[in-house]
Amino acid sequence: MAVIKAAILGFGTVGQGIYHILNEKREELREKLGVELEVAKIVVRDTSRERVPGTQHLLTDNIDDVFAEKGMQVVFEAIVNEEPAFSYLQRAIEHKCHVITANKVMFAKRGIELQELAKKNGVFVGYEATVAGGVPIIKTMKNILLVNDVSRIQGILNGTTNYMLTKMRQEGWSYDQALAEAQRLGYAEADPFNDVSGQDAFKKLMILSDLAFGEQPAWSEVEVIGIDTLTLDDIKAANEKGLRYRHVAEVEKNAEGQIIGKVAPMLVNAEHPLFPIDDVFNAVSMETNYIGTLTVTGPGAGMYPTASVMVEDYAEIIGKRAGFVVSI
Ligand code: HSE
Repeated sequence: MAVIKAAILGFGTVGQGIYHILNEKREELREKLGVELEVAKIVVRDTSRERVPGTQHLLTDNIDDVFAEKGMQVVFEAIVNEEPAFSYLQRAIEHKCHVITANKVMFAKRGIELQELAKKNGVFVGYEATVAGGVPIIKTMKNILLVNDVSRIQGILNGTTNYMLTKMRQEGWSYDQALAEAQRLGYAEADPFNDVSGQDAFKKLMILSDLAFGEQPAWSEVEVIGIDTLTLDDIKAANEKGLRYRHVAEVEKNAEGQIIGKVAPMLVNAEHPLFPIDDVFNAVSMETNYIGTLTVTGPGAGMYPTASVMVEDYAEIIGKRAGFVVSI
């Protein structure tokens, strides 16, 4: 049986999740896809920390080791910032590897460039995990766009802040207590300022804008307001009136063809599609011309939901290569 070698770049919450799922599902994936997948390298900054027992021999801090490995065909990337992630993926694509990323900071800025490079090199870029964790929003939107135009997107795109707002409302937790718990559960970014300030949701919104409209608004013109502007009293007072604060990211193409984006806390009532979305859940509502408004929801952060959609991207790419699945 053919063996496909893969590398995992970054071995934090998401990288480890990929490793666990690939191990747990090894046989099933082999049967479904007709190929054996072997994780041959894991790239980390500090190789002295094993993190997952039995992986020490796979660790390297040198990206060259990935490309020196014969049969390397897939690179999973779960690093935090734009660099060195972009340069590593650029090299991977030039090396004819398919790449699958969870890196929204990098992809919001360089996603189109990476996809064009991949096209030239005959490989695929999977980026489902960059937006809304385990919610299959990229796949869904790609399918919808085959027939529909999307005019507006409105969503909860950050699991940490939705979890915090939920716990503050339901349990009366303080902002700091809710944030600490979101960090403990592996939802928050390495620097949680990116979650609470709205920067994380903003990057995800820009990725959706690229997909829906083929362009992004000028970043400097997008108003981004975090949940750090809300107090526990604001949240309680809203709740007493039957209202809920949601941290909403929205982008639309107006009648003049301009793309307008915004990220901010919003008060919603029980009629609003984002009203029932609690805990770490994310949701994306899309306004389309034929379907009408469609809302997709699911867990927006965490090791397994995010890692799962990356392994799904892998299965889809390999399946597509073998000619039996099409959507990436
Ligand atoms: N920190 C992010 C969130 C992780 O809470 O949504 C998933 O992108």
